[in-house]
Amino acid sequence: MEGQLALVEPIGSSPTAAEARPGLCLTAGAETRTESGTVCDAVTTTSTSTPRVRLRDVTLDDADLLDAWTRDAHGDRGFNDMSPEPRMVNRDALAKGPLRDENNGRLIVERVADGAPVGTVGWHKVRYGPNPESEAWNIGIELVPAMRSRGYGTEAQRLLADHLFETTNVNRVEAATDVDNVAEQRALEKAGYRREGIARGAQYRAGAYHDLVTYARLREESQA
Ligand SMILES: CC(C)(COP(=O)(O)OP(=O)(O)OC[C@H]1O[C@@H](n2cnc3c(N)ncnc32)[C@H](O)[C@@H]1OP(=O)(O)O)[C@@H](O)C(=O)NCCC(=O)NCCS
Repeated sequence: MEGQLALVEPIGSSPTAAEARPGLCLTAGAETRTESGTVCDAVTTTSTSTPRVRLRDVTLDDADLLDAWTRDAHGDRGFNDMSPEPRMVNRDALAKGPLRDENNGRLIVERVADGAPVGTVGWHKVRYGPNPESEAWNIGIELVPAMRSRGYGTEAQRLLADHLFETTNVNRVEAATDVDNVAEQRALEKAGYRREGIARGAQYRAGAYHDLVTYARLREESQA
């Protein structure tokens, strides 16, 4: 199964040349070009509203900002606060290219209006059998606190699923979140993910095991 992602950068409603960055960049409904400049199929969503965020590759210039976000979030007892030590960006790896390969990836969520980074999305491969057809992507997201509850999380997770279906062969893009994380559950539902069930005691966080609620979008539902 091919896990590589296409590289595109936006035009049209996307940023000015000064704002545009090399590498992957996805907007909801915007026309896009490949790195060579050839117009390609846009990564679109079913939303007809003007896109407000896009996804783009992490660059070395982002490393300090990402580390600052990680430090700020560490110990905040939020739903993503799980590791004992904050994990800083691996600058050596980032210097060699984007933070994505055939097994996982991470992208910046960027506001279209001004190019401001507002958070990150990530994904990693999960397997439901030894054959490549049984591989799926499990996604995650973290927006900075000031940028939450504006609809950005919904848009970003819709864009990410659209793109993973477009550029890889998986049948399933999934997410799991704490049963108490109402904002994420609502954002996933608005982004077209369907609620599936409860994974009991699946996640250890803040000194206790927590139930997770699982969501997924299937390929056949990707344009639903
Ligand atoms: C979870 C997260 C990605 C959602 O993104 P967002 O941009 O804040 O969410 P959106 O604005 O797109 O949608 C949130 C929805 O939840 C609702 N909501 C938010 N907090 C709520 C609460 N406490 N109770 C009920 N509904 C709530 C909002 O009203 C909105 O629904 P609506 O549009 O129907 O009104 C973002 O808040 C975040 O990064 N949180 C911290 C990290 C995190 O929890 N990540 C997920 C871990 S699995």
